Amino acid sequence: KQSVLTDTFQRTHTYLRISLTERCNLRCQYCMPEEGVQLQHKDKILSTEEIVRLSKLFVSAGVNKIRFTGGEPLVRNDIEPMMEEIGRIPGLKTIALTTNGILLSRKLARLQSAGLNLLNISLDTLDEHKFTMITRRLGWKRVMDSIELALQSGFSPVKINCVVMRGVNDMEIIDFVNMTKDKDLEVRFIEYMPFDGNRWNDKKFVSYQEMLGRIQEHFGGITRELQHDQQFNNTSKSYSIQGHKGRVGFITSMSDHFCSTCNRLRITADGNLKVCLFGNAEVSLRDQMRNGATDSDLLEIIHQAVLNKKESHAGMYEIAKNKNRPMILIGG
Ligand code: GTP
Ligand code: 5AD
Ligand code: SF4
Repeated sequence: KQSVLTDTFQRTHTYLRISLTERCNLRCQYCMPEEGVQLQHKDKILSTEEIVRLSKLFVSAGVNKIRFTGGEPLVRNDIEPMMEEIGRIPGLKTIALTTNGILLSRKLARLQSAGLNLLNISLDTLDEHKFTMITRRLGWKRVMDSIELALQSGFSPVKINCVVMRGVNDMEIIDFVNMTKDKDLEVRFIEYMPFDGNRWNDKKFVSYQEMLGRIQEHFGGITRELQHDQQFNNTSKSYSIQGHKGRVGFITSMSDHFCSTCNRLRITADGNLKVCLFGNAEVSLRDQMRNGATDSDLLEIIHQAVLNKKESHAGMYEIAKNKNRPMILIGG
């Protein structure tokens, strides 16, 4: 259906990802440079009121799913009241969170009663020491406990995001799949994507085909769940494994992109609308709001940005050359 959020390739954007902060309590190698990133002053970051205003505006324009990302969204200490307000927006069906899990146990109950109904937790290794190496911080046990709590709290499935890197964690793929045997988990193996400062190279890249091949070799009955994925314009290609309670999925951004069914827009923590994860065209909604823009002014600006969205990203090697933000300043 045509709307403010429909682009020139007839993609209608109903899924908004909002980054709540540039800060994080981990330092994952694939997400940010060792020295961290230069944080902006707090008054450059969207306030709760601004985030709530934009959420309402986007829902009025047709968005039905909002995901909070970061940085690490749970380090923002007003996330609970913010989610409570956003949970009351009529027409918003799904409120989702992507978190590293470190602070989740403390915050989950209140977020769930505010309306959080989709939970994705990042976990790249089942080895505590390797976790410290990848994230440059401690906390593996806390993440594992958060995953258990999420399952007990009834999130079904709990999605696990695992960025696969050759020589780092690719030898753990089968162990990750084994986690889905008795648990209502969807383990999603993500192709390693290049971002500024994240030390990406194609030697560390493991493709969907290779991951799938290795899993097929080890597990017999594995079946693609095509209908399920299409229903949600999913980023992931999901599979069920015979005898497993959970599922596995693959996020094939590099080897087999899903741009033709993209329904996602992003707002960065500093208030820029970003129409593609890999596009550096951005427009500041923060500055417009602070200069007194009305809702219809904002919708016009959003519409123009959506109309400028490209058909697809430029491919892995082009992306690696292009200037973009570091991942931590986008939120995935
Ligand atoms: P669901 O809503 O549960 O399907 O999650 P999601 O995959 O939309 O979001 P999540 O934050 O869990 O991101 C998982 C991985 O998908 C991350 O590596 C993201 O960078 C990547 N991802 C999310 N959205 C897009 C997108 O629009 N394009 C591309 N290329 N990758 C994306
Ligand atoms: N490539 C692929 N996925 C990444 N993520 C962060 N950096 C990268 C990258 N370079 C994932 C995180 C998190 C999600 C928001 O994005 O694992 O789950
Ligand atoms: Fe959408 Fe851009 Fe991701 Fe393609 S790369 S799926 S257009 S956000």
